[in-house]
Amino acid sequence: MTRARVHPVLVTGATGRVGRAVVAQLLGAGLPVRALTRRPATAGLPATVEVVAGDLTVPESLDAALQGVGAVFLLWTAPPGTAPAIVERLASHRRRVVFLSSPHKTPHPFFQQPNPMARFHADVERLIAAAGLESTIIRPGMFASNAQFWWASAIRDGNVVRWPYGAAETAPIDERDIAAVAARALYEDGHTGGDYVLTGPESLSQAEQVSVIGAVLGRQIRFEELSPEEFRRETAGRWPGPVVDMLLAAWGATIGRPAFVTSTVAAVVGSPPRTFRQWVADHADAFR
Ligand SMILES: NC(=O)c1ccc[n+]([C@@H]2O[C@H](COP(=O)([O-])OP(=O)(O)OC[C@H]3O[C@@H](n4cnc5c(N)ncnc54)[C@H](OP(=O)(O)O)[C@@H]3O)[C@@H](O)[C@H]2O)c1
Repeated sequence: MTRARVHPVLVTGATGRVGRAVVAQLLGAGLPVRALTRRPATAGLPATVEVVAGDLTVPESLDAALQGVGAVFLLWTAPPGTAPAIVERLASHRRRVVFLSSPHKTPHPFFQQPNPMARFHADVERLIAAAGLESTIIRPGMFASNAQFWWASAIRDGNVVRWPYGAAETAPIDERDIAAVAARALYEDGHTGGDYVLTGPESLSQAEQVSVIGAVLGRQIRFEELSPEEFRRETAGRWPGPVVDMLLAAWGATIGRPAFVTSTVAAVVGSPPRTFRQWVADHADAFR
């Protein structure tokens, strides 16, 4: 496969977990990168990145950002209403797009529960297909970095993680591996029409993931099982209700089954995805 573009790649979500890693991958491959953010002053991106202001909820704010770009990494955490107008703008520039979606088509119970985020992802995919964009859809499962969001403060404060569905298995994927696939799809030919379900290399229960963190830190961390109702009460007012519902439904449905694991990262990138233990070792300070 050949490198197809010398035009800058526009990265949306560039200040987030995956987007930052996509920026790093593209810079590493020698590509010029333009990063979209609502707050350029605090973006904290490498000096070689062209940082531009833009907001996915204000479609015209992308006009300048799209000038002269060769491909777009599209990651959407904004409210959904402007997605049709944004996709229309991408198509009017005849762009290659790599869209970060989720594995909502995968016939595993974990991915087949009621999920508003997945419904939105499916809508955006339909818009992209209808607009005739050259597209690659990447579908990561559970991010390894969720462990930091979910458990780091409890582990910093003590030796107990209180959480539901300790036996629920997932295959956490390192955001750097998601980004490595996204970057290939942005700068290599041969990925148009690609539909890539991305997972980490191994199925681990949530309780096992917590014990991996303990092993890396050299501490014994206890997993204390909460009932779904207790989890709802503990997250009330702090987490959006639909997110709690989505997670509880997915964990509950997967009990008794190993996580869905693919070899797609290795097939696209040429090396296996990082283990959860590796992710923890590289982020251990967040748990100390
Ligand atoms: N967590 C998981 O396990 C998981 C699994 C599968 C798929 N996903 C998907 O992954 C995505 C989240 O990725 P992430 O964790 O890397 O995100 P993140 O760290 O939460 O970062 C969100 C990014 O979106 C940008 N953003 C937010 N609102 C925006 C707006 N109105 N206009 C332009 N940019 C906006 C932010 O940029 P600024 O603030 O700089 O503007 C930031 O860079 C979601 O689509 C989610 O559905 C997550």
